[in-house]
Amino acid sequence: MVIREITKNVHGIIMNDWDRRLFDELIPLPDGTTYNAYLIKDEKNVLVDTSDPSKSEKFIRVLKDLSGGRIDYIVSNHSEQDHSGCIPRVLEEFSGSRVIASDKGVSLLTKLLHIPEERCMKVADGEELSTGSRRLRFMYAPWVHWPETMITCDIDDRILFPCDLFGSHLATSSFYASCNERLYSSAKRYYAEIMMPFRNNIRKHLRLVENLDIGIIAPSHGPVYNNPDFIVSAYRDWVSDSVKNEVVIPYVSMHGSVARMVDFFVDSLIRKGIEAKPFNLTATDVGELAMSLVDAATVVLGTPTVLTGPHPSAVYATYLFKVLRPKTRFISVIGSFGWGGNMLKSITDMLPSGNLEILSPVIVNGYPGNPDFESLENLAKTILEKHKELNLL
Ligand code: FEO
Repeated sequence: MVIREITKNVHGIIMNDWDRRLFDELIPLPDGTTYNAYLIKDEKNVLVDTSDPSKSEKFIRVLKDLSGGRIDYIVSNHSEQDHSGCIPRVLEEFSGSRVIASDKGVSLLTKLLHIPEERCMKVADGEELSTGSRRLRFMYAPWVHWPETMITCDIDDRILFPCDLFGSHLATSSFYASCNERLYSSAKRYYAEIMMPFRNNIRKHLRLVENLDIGIIAPSHGPVYNNPDFIVSAYRDWVSDSVKNEVVIPYVSMHGSVARMVDFFVDSLIRKGIEAKPFNLTATDVGELAMSLVDAATVVLGTPTVLTGPHPSAVYATYLFKVLRPKTRFISVIGSFGWGGNMLKSITDMLPSGNLEILSPVIVNGYPGNPDFESLENLAKTILEKHKELNLL
């Protein structure tokens, strides 16, 4: 746990979860995570978000100490339980408190946590609340990454509380962000897995944030930014339409055929000055794969045929690609079969429609021979031309 006064009477409460290794039973957390809440002490004491239910005992203890025994409002920027999960306990311990949330937020909180509606107060987009000596503004920011999300701004202290937005899964002893490669990587992993599917919404919210006069960004996961430009610039890049001269190759190989194809193909891309990122799906961390999808211009899926279709690991990767909705411009498939099947159609049927050009696949029968390597070379050449058309190299 890390507690620090950010500005006078505004306290950050960062509960570290050092050992957590999986989020939503899906997302690997190599560096754990944190659940951050913020307490504003004024004529009205306001708690911004809470903590994960697993931290409730410690969180309530800290809150009682810090608040002097009075919480008037609990701002719920986001109803997901890692931030809202302690609200029922806070309402119980601080009997005069009420929850502030968006219209949809109240609706979700009453269903997910059975919070009585009479203890909730809906706020409209842009509505302000005076806490005494400062004003809080509530701004609807839907799809960060749920429909009810809002961000709260302490206008007078110039602190933004964006909940999940700008977060990072990084347990650390530091309260403020060390703007280094490790943090960049954690924030990018977080963006890839949580925010990327909603890139267009996030882009709008980013413009909203850029128009505010903000000195500190206090998210609900990871360290606090007293240099907001670090994370805002990173987000500007990630949500933009620009892609990089990279080819991501998620693949799986059963008897070595696809592995040989990938090995040849990767070398061919590298020779052409293209950054190749192969991911063996039997060993890869899906967070690493998701991160690589943030920028790559091209994805090439590699799969053998199992029974009559693609390998289940390749199906999983294709599904992940579809739901994460990266800004990838070109996609292709390389793979193999023994005696037949419908692997290629099964994979291409799963691909999202829209601004994604499918390049000619390379499917071989058995082990690849010289004509197959030639086809892979041609695919690499096509990718080179496509990347050149986008001025990526
Ligand atoms: Fe950190 Fe969407 O919860």
